[in-house]
Amino acid sequence: MNNNEIIKHVRGESQFIDDLKLPHDILYGTVLTSEIPHGKIEKIDLGNALSLKGVVQIIDHHDIPGENQIGAIIRDEELLSDGIVKFAGEPILLILSESLDSGREALKEIKVDISPIPAITDPRESFRAGNLIVPPRTFDYGDTDSAWEKCEVVAEGRVESGGQEHFYMETQASLAYPVEKDSVKVLSSTQSPTSVQKAVSGVLGIPMNRVEVDVRRLGGGFGGKEDQATPWAAMAALGAYITKRPVKIVLSRSDDIRNTGKRHPFSSDFKIGLDSSGKIVAYEATFYQNCGAYADLSTAILERALFHATNSYFIPNVRVTGISCYTNLPPFTAFRGFGGPQAMFVIESAISKAAAKINMNVRKIQKMNLLKEGDLFPYGMVTENCNIIATWEKLEEKFQVEETYKKIDEFNRKNDLIKKGAAVMPVSFGISFTNKMLNQAGALVHIYTDGSVSVSTGAVEMGQGVNKKMINVAAETLSIPPSRVRIETTNTTRVANTSPTAASSGADLNGMATRSACIGLVKRLRSVAAKSMGVDIDQIKFKSGKVFNIGNGQSILWEELIGIAYSERVSLTSQAYYATPDIYFDKTKEKGKPFAYHVFGTALIEAELDVLRGVYKFNRVSIVHDTGKSLDQQTDLGQIEGGFIQGLGWVTVEELLFEEGGKIITGGSSTYKVPDIKFIPDEINVEMMQDLKNPYAVLGSKAVGEPPFMYGIGGYFAVRKCLFAAKPDVQLNFDCPLTPEKIIISLM
Ligand code: MTE
Ligand code: HPA
Ligand code: MOS
Repeated sequence: MNNNEIIKHVRGESQFIDDLKLPHDILYGTVLTSEIPHGKIEKIDLGNALSLKGVVQIIDHHDIPGENQIGAIIRDEELLSDGIVKFAGEPILLILSESLDSGREALKEIKVDISPIPAITDPRESFRAGNLIVPPRTFDYGDTDSAWEKCEVVAEGRVESGGQEHFYMETQASLAYPVEKDSVKVLSSTQSPTSVQKAVSGVLGIPMNRVEVDVRRLGGGFGGKEDQATPWAAMAALGAYITKRPVKIVLSRSDDIRNTGKRHPFSSDFKIGLDSSGKIVAYEATFYQNCGAYADLSTAILERALFHATNSYFIPNVRVTGISCYTNLPPFTAFRGFGGPQAMFVIESAISKAAAKINMNVRKIQKMNLLKEGDLFPYGMVTENCNIIATWEKLEEKFQVEETYKKIDEFNRKNDLIKKGAAVMPVSFGISFTNKMLNQAGALVHIYTDGSVSVSTGAVEMGQGVNKKMINVAAETLSIPPSRVRIETTNTTRVANTSPTAASSGADLNGMATRSACIGLVKRLRSVAAKSMGVDIDQIKFKSGKVFNIGNGQSILWEELIGIAYSERVSLTSQAYYATPDIYFDKTKEKGKPFAYHVFGTALIEAELDVLRGVYKFNRVSIVHDTGKSLDQQTDLGQIEGGFIQGLGWVTVEELLFEEGGKIITGGSSTYKVPDIKFIPDEINVEMMQDLKNPYAVLGSKAVGEPPFMYGIGGYFAVRKCLFAAKPDVQLNFDCPLTPEKIIISLM
């Protein structure tokens, strides 16, 4: 039997919220949102909406029994606007109807009169207007002020990185059921069941124990459902609570793109100084984070950007500042890497600019400055089990980095119409939620009397394979075949107070809790076996679905032992909890050890550019990635390749555009390009380094979800190299995505 979800997905057997059979009295929720990026609601005219066939009720903020508030970190976001709208797509009314069509008809009937207020879409302008979420934060290390004079070369510049649409296959979805008179059960496509539970409890004004949230799986989240599944789930719950009928809300693709947040665009300044050998002496950067209309997770994302400002390099003098700026765009949110990619793009740009100025190879500067064991990050954490140099050297050796560059130079000397280029991209990514509190998880494990096992955790399956990993952890710990283990839905009544499945730590945290719950069961079962076989506990060994007396080699089946345990009245249920030890961070000093450990890796990206047409492709990508002892190699390979491609898309073809006023232009798949099968590099080589130990995650594994995304950044620099080969004097700012359109313009 195969436990892998993927098989079910391919066969179309996996169910998502939109696939569920609906009760006869179902209502559909249609959300009326603002057409205007910033304005005051003057008047709402429902027209004939309420008398349309099938329209049951139209809900506005007055109907909310609890609080009209869903801000998770900062309480700045209403569920339904009560007067001022701050982005085009902000929810105002919830229409409940017996068919989707009647909901859409009702939308056309309703006129909302909004008087416009000037809108800001540029974070620097917002900064000048003082429109910040919180005061700026600065990480300081060494003394940059006095360091500049020690530098042989100093380079300064500006870097822009665009937003990114998550483009998960399943759009935001929720289905809420009234439960008796005073409770609700909510199915939501959320990465964070507890966040939904909390928000629903607040909006309905009922305690959390009357809100059950259940998640089977998501058709992709990528961070887009860490915080932003919440409003739709809360609206469905609100509708169900008020009407006492089940309510379903599933966004259309265009509504999803228009109304929900994406990766934060950043506009940044940098200054970097090198000595004559290429050593980085000092680095300064300022990040203007475009947060959109509401805080959402912006402050946490900015913090992670600051933590990753120096990527994989040791720099003795650093000052980086981050500024969270409100704008009138959809509230930008978590997206794979969580600010890390934006910050790493800045330092890689800075190195690229400095390299040109000092006339040295970028990769030589990168390599010379890589973190060594014991080096400090600017936030005070000491590097430990630091494998970045090991991955770099392995890449050089296995994938002929120097020869590749030589061949590219040769090719470029002989060819004018096609130019090639390459870049090496090292990545060091910190694992743990930067908010210490969130680094906890729980698991609940039952063994049924037939020996089959049920595991509940706080982890949400969204395609990243966490369920497969939890099965492997449980099976390994209980010494039974993986086919005997089932992963249950993620449900707030079974595992409470869960952290979002995010920060790449889903498998780490929930895996630790699962392992610990299973160890508890094994302990009990070992006593049962010892008693039953009449030997000492240390004579008992569990292996491959059997329990052995190692003294005489006799064994009984796992199932038999479970039968004995049950008849002996030994509990076959275990609950466990895990909290990451030894992490802390002092925000008053901006120093501490915020991460349990780092994930390291290095990639070589080779590109070629069609000089006449401006289009490019990626010939070969080679990645050496430190996976630790992989919990599931197929899954990790998928994460490494998939993460990389998503990162490559961000810096190359995915261009998020808004009109001057703030309305989205790229609102569908015809205008927003994501990497497709033809975009995938001709050759992708992945070398997993598994021999490097990691004591900080379950069974010596390492988190893998986000770090590979940032290898994609190398794609920008590879294409940039092609462009410089074609036109050495090209004027090109550090501005991603580097679309074919921008290339053709700069070639003209
Ligand atoms: N992989 C797939 N297929 N789908 C996803 O939505 N999300 C990514 C990553 N890989 C995602 C994915 C993000 S943003 C994170 S934080 C991690 O998976 C979360 O899962 P983990 O903590 O279990 O690795
Ligand atoms: N990463 C991802 N998601 C988060 C984090 C983080 O560090 N903190 C809060 N949500
Ligand atoms: Mo991932 S951005 O931490 O959901």
